[in-house]
Amino acid sequence: MPDRIVILTGAGLSAESGLGTFRDKGGIWTRHRIEDVATPDAFARDPDRVHAFYNERRAQAAAARPNAAHVALARLQAQHPGSVTIVTQNVDALHERAGATAIHMHGELGRAKCHACDHRWPAPPAMRHDDSCPACDARATRPDVVWFGEMPYHMDEIARHLLSCDLFAAIGTSGNVYPAAGFVQEAARAGARKVELNLELTELSDLFDDRLTGPASKIVPDWVEAVLAPMR
Ligand code: APR
Repeated sequence: MPDRIVILTGAGLSAESGLGTFRDKGGIWTRHRIEDVATPDAFARDPDRVHAFYNERRAQAAAARPNAAHVALARLQAQHPGSVTIVTQNVDALHERAGATAIHMHGELGRAKCHACDHRWPAPPAMRHDDSCPACDARATRPDVVWFGEMPYHMDEIARHLLSCDLFAAIGTSGNVYPAAGFVQEAARAGARKVELNLELTELSDLFDDRLTGPASKIVPDWVEAVLAPMR
């Protein structure tokens, strides 16, 4: 059993829970333009259009249920306390609702933040541009998600985990967006074994030692079983 496992998850992990991916056929970025809904400029230009985009995704995420892949990853973490770090690009809370902990490098739909005082609090189901911050009362609230052009969260902590891992898995991510797409190279520098779990091959597949293809709800539980097997 590897001592230090880092698992990077992407939208493909939540696809079978009914949440949209971004770049697949019919994906979110085929129906919305990033520059209209997911940049600081978009928010400055039309905050309620950005809020409407995230309010819809927040409602979908609230109604979604963890699938067998989320449950299997939570089981792996529970059987190896402190040895399994999940880093997610997803802003839904399905890892947590399956009983896992995850580092949310792109923030969370369920949290709001004030860009006047940086206070954070549970987001209401629907946010509006004139909501005021519960801490400083400024009308400067936004979804606590990381937009394009902004620095992802927890990068120092993530780098430390990657530097010491001996197994790195990328699950349900297309490897299109940095810095997450560069994690496999950081894991390689640490000498980790690298496995990609995805519905299909990606642009980064050649950088992995092993590639498991299929729906996450099927291949992730099988993979977790295989990782846990030597323990028995
Ligand atoms: N099981 C496994 N993998 C799947 C499934 C499934 N059921 N369905 C789709 N996938 C795979 C696709 O093959 C694709 O490689 O999930 C990946 C989804 O890729 P993207 O839509 O690009 O999502 P992601 O990689 O998470 O995007 C990264 O880009 O727009 C930003 O902030 C956004 O966090 C997001 C980031």
